[in-house]
Amino acid sequence: MSNTILVGAQWGDEGKGKIIDVLTEQADVVVRTQGGNNAGHTVYLGPKKYVLHLIPSGILRKNKLCVIGNGVVIDPVGLVSEIEGLKKLNVKVGKNLVVSETAHIVLPYHRELDAQREVLKGKNKIGTTKRGIGPAYGDKAARVGIRMIDLINPARFEEKLKLRIKENNEVLKALGAKPLSFKKVLAEYRAAGDYLKPYVANTVVLLHQATRRGDTILFEGAQGTFLDIDHGTYPYVTSSNTTSGGACTGSGVAPNRMDEVVGVMKAYTTRVGEGPLPTENAEISDLLHGMGREFGATTGRARRCGWFDSVATRHATMVNGIDKLAITNLDGLDTVATIKVCVAYRHGKDHFDFVPNDAQLLAECEPVYVEFDGWLTPTDKAKTWKELPPKARAYAKAIAELTGAELFIASVGPAREQTIFV
Ligand code: GDP
Ligand code: IMO
Ligand code: MG
Repeated sequence: MSNTILVGAQWGDEGKGKIIDVLTEQADVVVRTQGGNNAGHTVYLGPKKYVLHLIPSGILRKNKLCVIGNGVVIDPVGLVSEIEGLKKLNVKVGKNLVVSETAHIVLPYHRELDAQREVLKGKNKIGTTKRGIGPAYGDKAARVGIRMIDLINPARFEEKLKLRIKENNEVLKALGAKPLSFKKVLAEYRAAGDYLKPYVANTVVLLHQATRRGDTILFEGAQGTFLDIDHGTYPYVTSSNTTSGGACTGSGVAPNRMDEVVGVMKAYTTRVGEGPLPTENAEISDLLHGMGREFGATTGRARRCGWFDSVATRHATMVNGIDKLAITNLDGLDTVATIKVCVAYRHGKDHFDFVPNDAQLLAECEPVYVEFDGWLTPTDKAKTWKELPPKARAYAKAIAELTGAELFIASVGPAREQTIFV
């Protein structure tokens, strides 16, 4: 394997965690480059379930270096509890985890502001994960953020925090929310800073050294293409670049060191939170929820579900430069007699074969569908491409072709073994 950027080609929760875990076998280093603990990446090892929020999914394999890059926003208290949680499950976390010193940190006022802004928005709320992601990236852009390098320097952190709490408490009071106690936040974050200090380093130099050694690096995307701050369904997006370019800026590894982009997409579509979802469909939603599937890994919310949307995934191929595709959850369609796939959007007299930028217009678009015969056979035991029912193969091939990239992996269950290399 060469240096690979893995991105979600839809609205997040495509099964990136599972595919990363599979591909990590071939990698030396796994890097998270954007987002924060809004992400929830699920990996099953046998009966054991792991949900990773900030730590790269590569942590579950031995002798892999895991890096939280500069583009990530880190909730230090959350990161400590994630490390502790993994240790309790007998996962080794030590020198195999390195955290960027220039990554910005999420503070309690970010979380509080996130919640308050959602209340203010009322029916226009984004449906955020309330992890403070938007306000933390906002502070980074406004150049008033606090970084890991500050957190591990007690005097500097105290000085910066004091100023930031003062300003944010005024804002919180104006919004009718309770101001924060400087002393309490300082104590909690200082403890997390001491705990995390051994993990903090200059990850740009470290990744550069890894590249020069010839190490193989896997860049683990979080969220999905249509949650990208620039290319998503703004304002119903997250606050980072979830598309492939974010892997470069979020790690300090240059574009010409990247070899390929893998796009992960479900065999259908899901979205959690508000905003347009052209192929949303009650029938498939009820079916999947009835099977106990499609509940959020971070917030537990029921995900909205719909038919596969090839307009969206083709658009994702365009903005990410997707070379190869991993299709997950093919088994989710095992019992569907007629499967629909969206191939265009209709809006009045207009037809779109790309995702229009106006979220309101997108919400008004009618999907144009083509239909596929379902295979009506369980696929979860299939180990090879040939063992898949012909109709399932035809469907997977067709959606990859419509998406415009090479079919690489078909996944038929959450486990490592339920992965078919095509
Ligand atoms: P991520 O955020 O992209 O890593 O995806 P999540 O972990 O939030 O959600 C994907 C869900 O689908 C998780 O519960 C996975 O265990 C599960 N999953 C991934 N691939 C497959 C698959 O091929 N079949 C089934 N049944 N479940 C899958
Ligand atoms: P993974 O990495 C799915 C969604 C939220 C909301 C919007 C903004 O597991 O695929 P935020 O808290 O980021 O400000 O919320 O983005 N969202 C996700 N949806 N998967 C994710 O991550 C998500 N991270 C954020 O539901 O609609
Ligand atoms: Mg997820």
